[in-house]
Amino acid sequence: MKSDILELLKNDKNDFISGQYISEKLGVTRTAIWKHINQLKEDGYEIESISNKGYRLVSSPDLLTSEEIKPYLKTALIGRNILHFDSLDSTNVKAKQLADSLKVDGAVIISEEQTSGKGRLGRTWVSPKYKGIWMSIILKPDLNPMDAVKLTQIAAASVVNGCSELNIDTLIKWPNDIVINHKKVCGILTEMSAELTRINYIIVGIGINVNIDEAEFPESLKETATSLKIEVKHKISRQELIGRILNNFEYLYLEFINNNNIKASLDICREKSALINNNIIVINRDKNTEAKALDIDEGGRLLIEYPDGRQEYLISGEVSIRGKGSYI
Ligand code: BTN
Repeated sequence: MKSDILELLKNDKNDFISGQYISEKLGVTRTAIWKHINQLKEDGYEIESISNKGYRLVSSPDLLTSEEIKPYLKTALIGRNILHFDSLDSTNVKAKQLADSLKVDGAVIISEEQTSGKGRLGRTWVSPKYKGIWMSIILKPDLNPMDAVKLTQIAAASVVNGCSELNIDTLIKWPNDIVINHKKVCGILTEMSAELTRINYIIVGIGINVNIDEAEFPESLKETATSLKIEVKHKISRQELIGRILNNFEYLYLEFINNNNIKASLDICREKSALINNNIIVINRDKNTEAKALDIDEGGRLLIEYPDGRQEYLISGEVSIRGKGSYI
């Protein structure tokens, strides 16, 4: 009911709507409406109320609730069920706990902060409150478990496209980092529960440093990490960015699932690659080898060439890559 009232207020932004109108439209008493309006105010909505005129929405809080993201969503599946938390240890951990109980594909877990955000290779992911997008998409595709890695590339392509729709140019450091000016703004952590031939669920965790200021990054990350706000020099709407990323994700995901088309995603990964045609360092069990990145193949593998001319396909997750002369 609270969200229905909010929707009516949002539809008539700038205008007063009467208690009578809301009451008739939603079939609730004026007292109930008043109670819900008070709850919305407690949630951070600024609502003006004038007797004889009704209620007017003045401003909305900067929260990643379903109500705040919905206006930007054009999806049928992804993000239609958003579970919003004020604080979690990790959205990926929460997503795993909930995955079995959720029947449909595409639920999204979002938290305003993570107290124990998970990065790749057992690292932690710094996730300050209200400053970023810390979200996990739960998927239950009928796919061969071997194909699950492609979900990371679908996610990377979606983040790059979503940013580009907001005029922010980013590159993909294969397979799961998004960078600007050689610094990381986003990391993707895809986790899976599967049997030999059947996927139970896949969790695609996406962490984006959106409105973090330079002084807020821990000293240890300052050389390697950045935020969208630092790079474009203004605050970004987290709600709009999530909407745009999920819209792109749904399109690319359904292309893959329904039409077996991963090319749409891989084309974006190639076009926006931070590695292709550049010299890189391949890090394999503490051994560093120089190579040149040549291409990403149809299986999502990175084709590289060593100085002696030998070529090799790298599979995501098996090695780490660093740009030559770069910190990441
Ligand atoms: C990496 O680059 O190491 C991957 C970072 C992934 C971070 C995101 S934030 C949302 C989701 N929940 C987590 O605990 N991790 C991922």
